[in-house]
Amino acid sequence: MCGIIGYVGTRDVVPVIIGGLRKLEYRGYDSAGIAVVDDSGVEIVRAEGKLTNLEAKLNDKPLSGSFGMGHTRWATHGKPNENNAHPHRDCNGKVVVIHNGIIENFLPLKQDLQAKGHEFKTETDTEVVAHLIEEKMKDGTDFTEAVRKTLKELEGHYALVMIDGSAPGTIIAAKSGPPLVVGLGENENIIASDVAPLLAYTRNIIYLEDGEYVIANQQQVQVFDGNDRPVDRAPKRITWDAVMAEKEGYRHYMLKEIHEQPRAVRDTFTGRMFEESGEVFFNDLQLTAEEWAKIKKVHVIACGTSWHAGLVGKFLLEDAARIPIEVDYGSEYRYRNPIVDESTLVIGVTQSGETADTIAGMQEAKAKGAKLITICNVIGAAATRMADGVIYTNAGPEIGVASTKAFTTQLTAFFLLSLYIRQLRGENRDDIRYAMHEMRVIPHKIEDILKKQEKHIEALAHKYYKANDFLFLGRGVHYPIALEGALKLKEISYIHAEGYPAGEMKHGPIALIDENLPVVSVATHTPVYDKVVSNLQEVKARDGKLIVICDEHDEAMKKFADDVIEIPWTIEPLQPILTVVPMQLLAYYVALRRGCDVDQPRNLAKSVTVE
Ligand code: G6P
Repeated sequence: MCGIIGYVGTRDVVPVIIGGLRKLEYRGYDSAGIAVVDDSGVEIVRAEGKLTNLEAKLNDKPLSGSFGMGHTRWATHGKPNENNAHPHRDCNGKVVVIHNGIIENFLPLKQDLQAKGHEFKTETDTEVVAHLIEEKMKDGTDFTEAVRKTLKELEGHYALVMIDGSAPGTIIAAKSGPPLVVGLGENENIIASDVAPLLAYTRNIIYLEDGEYVIANQQQVQVFDGNDRPVDRAPKRITWDAVMAEKEGYRHYMLKEIHEQPRAVRDTFTGRMFEESGEVFFNDLQLTAEEWAKIKKVHVIACGTSWHAGLVGKFLLEDAARIPIEVDYGSEYRYRNPIVDESTLVIGVTQSGETADTIAGMQEAKAKGAKLITICNVIGAAATRMADGVIYTNAGPEIGVASTKAFTTQLTAFFLLSLYIRQLRGENRDDIRYAMHEMRVIPHKIEDILKKQEKHIEALAHKYYKANDFLFLGRGVHYPIALEGALKLKEISYIHAEGYPAGEMKHGPIALIDENLPVVSVATHTPVYDKVVSNLQEVKARDGKLIVICDEHDEAMKKFADDVIEIPWTIEPLQPILTVVPMQLLAYYVALRRGCDVDQPRNLAKSVTVE
């Protein structure tokens, strides 16, 4: 996830862009860059690290102009250094591009362009776009037409802003996935990843849809669809204040991040699984079949929500790898003198990459000779520096203390890792392809839940928010989801909540059940569906209030439960990515109803760097 901004107008572009990037820095901050077009051509300044480093460079080398663009990066392809920082250029340094997302087919495009003599200077997927436009312009095709042709060749997921130094005054921006908005001003137009940077200049905003692109100059803005037909879209008048804008109009970061999950999950699998060949590929993690054959057991270490992701990971990896998998709390692991050697693969799961207990466990494993990998959300964090391999969850910065999109992207990473292991074990590619197909459609299914169930869940929260206790039940892959549902609720609403394997309820928690106890359960169609239904009968027989997350059209469940939340079907290993979403929304709306500070709950911290 990155922040992008482009401006054309009458103002000095540098303060406009730097001010805008400051508002977009939440989207990534491992490097930043700016391109300004003036009489002498395109000037680019880039810097590794936070925006302040770029500002310092601009103080030494001031730029000015009224046309340009800027970028703040969250690296996906290529290390977060100055060379890979955006903007990127073609061979002549005239076509300049900034990008948020992943160009999935960049490798074949790059190889083709290299064969035609193009020289690439960076490791990024983005640079290919500048060279592709340049290639199209070689026969005299103008910039706009070259961009049109280029867009038709790109696969993946992108928001792009493109300019041509020899055609100053025209910005083209395209959207296929990540957000892109256009602000319409007086003699100025501005394009950005979200509305926050636009509000200082205009409140008239056009939201681009996927497949669309926009051609903007000082006087006008034209939107086109994927078939190059003009789109007539009236701007929306935005009345948000600055703080609301940073949350993209959502009341809390947590709600915004819940809604970002389709995008975040997509960013985590994009560019890593290739359905045609049935192959999984990780940039920062390479295991050969021989190396894998030496692994005899796997230890997963994590804390909090990441630990719950690890428990789901155990189900997925054990099934794929057929070797023992243990999951430990970071705080427990190193003090129990774990049995670790060179044949152990240790996976540290951590959103921040800085959690002291997880890091300590990882250090312990490394010292004992384990092969160490991490599933982490923050580029360059401590966990990534010590690991032999990294799977980044491309969730983008998570600000709400209660983790949501980091969790579903961790589940996505585990799913990809399980496919990777199947590949290393030489399993049937058709099965892997089928699983990839199911993964690819998960973002739509999350959107579906958000669209169809959010209002209903808000109403359920209003019905149950006065309860003193909640019980969460699940079996198999949904047992960790029951734990996560309980954790979310207690973290932000301060209601006591417990998660249990549904089959274990009769050994204790059943004593709690009466007409005042809401019991939230997952009962989707898995091989243990009937067993879960029997457990729920036990709740019902004792007057507990049953809220069941079930498959769509489960008519029997609708009759039996007090309330149901229906979700779309998917294969069992992917179901947790869907079943957790209603749990997150329930916790959010209960906390809201109770007047709690959702984004900064009492006593908690986003990243716990003490033991
Ligand atoms: C804190 C946060 C949790 C998070 C846990 C682990 O307790 O409040 O939301 O799950 O740390 O954090 P990590 O960054 O290692 O995933």
